[in-house]
Amino acid sequence: MTSAVDVHLEVFGTPPAGVWSAPGRVNLIGEHTDYNGGLVLPIALPQRTTATATARDDDLLRVHSAQAGERVEVDLGTVGPRSPSGWAAYVAGVLWALRQEGHEVRGLDVTVDSDVPLGAGLSSSAALECAVGAAASDLFGLDLLDDDASRARLAAACVRAENEVAGAMTGGMDQSAALLCREGHALLLDCRSGETSHVPFHLAGHGAGYVLLVTDTRAAHALNDGQYEARRRASEAAASALGLDSLRDVDPHHLDDALARLADDEQVRRARHVVTEIARVRATVEALEADDLESVGRLFDASHTSLRDDYEVSCVELDVSVEAARSAGALGARMTGGGFGGSSIALVPESDAEDVATAVAAAFAERGWTAPRSFVVTAGASAARDA
Ligand code: GLA
Repeated sequence: MTSAVDVHLEVFGTPPAGVWSAPGRVNLIGEHTDYNGGLVLPIALPQRTTATATARDDDLLRVHSAQAGERVEVDLGTVGPRSPSGWAAYVAGVLWALRQEGHEVRGLDVTVDSDVPLGAGLSSSAALECAVGAAASDLFGLDLLDDDASRARLAAACVRAENEVAGAMTGGMDQSAALLCREGHALLLDCRSGETSHVPFHLAGHGAGYVLLVTDTRAAHALNDGQYEARRRASEAAASALGLDSLRDVDPHHLDDALARLADDEQVRRARHVVTEIARVRATVEALEADDLESVGRLFDASHTSLRDDYEVSCVELDVSVEAARSAGALGARMTGGGFGGSSIALVPESDAEDVATAVAAAFAERGWTAPRSFVVTAGASAARDA
């Protein structure tokens, strides 16, 4: 933190007014369900993005990124769809979206830094948006961090930044995770009603002790290259072919009847994933509450198969990491996040965590792929002011 303040001082010549941060996330289960009005179950990561900032009294945004190693200046009057491009969209977009929502927001001098792996499917973009949003909320007196209802409004502004300015049609789970998660808990979020509950997530307390092992496959992952949006459109088309607002409205007990009414085979597979995945979220919550990690592991496996075969958002690196983790003793494993690269998660006995990570690395080395990065995570806290 001291170093972020030092960097800010060096870049902008004045001390910052404060430091805010927001976490990355892994979704335990409930993938590609958020934009279908479904259920998701993310945890916030211990890894966070910090925004060290001062308010300006004009419309200039000056933002320095420690990761990009560059400073960008944006006149807030020029922000709009796909402008600016690149990482600055996630910062400028938040200020733009807050203004669109009627908040009195001016420019900022802001230094951003992060230990959330970038482009790894761990929501580095949402962490950046929400850290900047938290800073803007406090610096301009918007009170959007005060309670869950106002945090949900800030999350919605961050989603607008991502959808409308960065041009990634993502569904909102990541921003909700960054703003609503609680330490030691997974967030059960109903994306249709906005209702939340906090499910205790302490694997170390289970029997011999388990850990959640994340593997960043380092296979390139992007959510604004058309594939993600194509899945979203196919789901919406399936819902509309069934005369429903969203696939959430399909009764899982009558799934086969619903699928039989879809003429398009791709829509059948997309819809089957979404409906069964929502049911798996409910089952996972029940299994966690019953301390039944074997069942959680089986649900992870089933989720991965469904994402790979029906939703077709996995990739060979994710499949290999999941299979290698299982063969080395994981109770279950699955891709997490949007897919097409990014990260997998595995539920692993604590004593086997190193061996599982080594087995995954060996499977990658055998194929001549870039070495993956595996690390154990616990459920962290949501966005907050740090200093
Ligand atoms: C990305 C998006 C989320 C969600 C997941 C898939 O992380 O940002 O909104 O759709 O993919 O579950």
